[in-house]
Amino acid sequence: MKCLINVLSGLKRKCIPHFVFSSSATVYGNPKTNLIYENFPIGRPFSPYGNTKKMNISLANKIRARFQDTFETEPLMIFSPGRINIIGEHTDYNDGFVFPAAVNKGIIAAFGKRDSNDSMAYAVDKNEKVKFSLNSLKPLAKGSWKNYVIGVVAELKKRNKGISNFNIAFGGDIPGGAGISSSAALENSVVFGLNELFDIKLSRQEMILISQKAEHNYVGVKCGIMDQYASMHGIENHALLLDCRTVKSKPFKINFKEHTLILINTNVKHRLSDSAYNDRRSVCETIAGLLNVKALRDASEFDLEAIKNKVTSENYQKALYVIQENNRVIEASKALETGNLELLGKLIYASHEGLRHQYKVSCEELDFLVDQTKLNPQILGARMMGGGFGGCTINLIARTEIESFKTFISKVYKKKFNTNCSIYNVSLSNGTKIIE
Ligand code: GLA
Repeated sequence: MKCLINVLSGLKRKCIPHFVFSSSATVYGNPKTNLIYENFPIGRPFSPYGNTKKMNISLANKIRARFQDTFETEPLMIFSPGRINIIGEHTDYNDGFVFPAAVNKGIIAAFGKRDSNDSMAYAVDKNEKVKFSLNSLKPLAKGSWKNYVIGVVAELKKRNKGISNFNIAFGGDIPGGAGISSSAALENSVVFGLNELFDIKLSRQEMILISQKAEHNYVGVKCGIMDQYASMHGIENHALLLDCRTVKSKPFKINFKEHTLILINTNVKHRLSDSAYNDRRSVCETIAGLLNVKALRDASEFDLEAIKNKVTSENYQKALYVIQENNRVIEASKALETGNLELLGKLIYASHEGLRHQYKVSCEELDFLVDQTKLNPQILGARMMGGGFGGCTINLIARTEIESFKTFISKVYKKKFNTNCSIYNVSLSNGTKIIE
């Protein structure tokens, strides 16, 4: 019966679908086939995003139990995924294209109302708790997980959204700094949970903008929209070709048949990555200004050539990288449409070269991992993923090769850096959602 109600309420909501409108038919194909969900209403218990297969059930049970023990009530449970990105790095804040997907790893958060003068957040993995008053919110020490939670609350308050005191307990199964965006997963879980708890009626699209602002204003990273979007709007077995200007995406079903994607975590995160990120963004904005365009998305290599003598050669290379990477994303979407995995792999390798030599956001450990894959013809492409300076590489590899490559890479990485790398298989999952 519950199942029937879910189906009916789902059909009711599906009466107001939202279609992608595209000015670029070559990229997006026939708009009628491109159902997307950006402004889909949120409702309980049905989620148009369905069930996420292979989510970490034991983590969910642990978080629920910790919440119950600590706050002595039944929580509202939320799963919010991390993301991978097939290609399109550092293009999002240039209004460009990216190709991310939500994964079955992320953050699980438990929420409940709190009858008190303050609110409490409990990071289960760290065994740390913080109490805060909704009336005097301010950023805490840089680098603290607390800023992700409090930042979202502050952004909701700024928009006069009626929230009162609450408890949250959360934990995750993606390590911070891995480049899989545990931060967006946490922000999205908080905004989604509070939206539900206090019936604020925000759309998913409004929620991701709140998450992004929390990161800008409380965490201090002037991030683009890719991570929050992918985590919120992910669709099982699909990657999303996202236009970061319109903030609309086209889902691509991902089935690489004999190949698959695996992640390899360097397990390092170098210092200064946040300030380097903000620096890169400001270089791009300055060059867009010189070119008299809104963002580098609007510039061609030809345009850039015309102002070459007005910028340093380092900054010229950075802008060139962005323009070329944007083109690579479009090329990659076509390669996926035609099933040309060899080409996709080449584009992925080219992306890494650009990130390494032009945009300069890679590091020795990431470069080593990518270089090692080039020795193996069964790996079609590999590159660093996310902001850079550590975290994961993403690798397009023949399924039959996975086990032997894992053994090989673990050994050589350990030998070279005297530390272990970690290897993750992920499946592409649905976006942020309520779980039972
Ligand atoms: C981080 C940011 C994203 C994006 C990537 C690089 O993950 O949060 O907005 O800029 O880096 O592509």
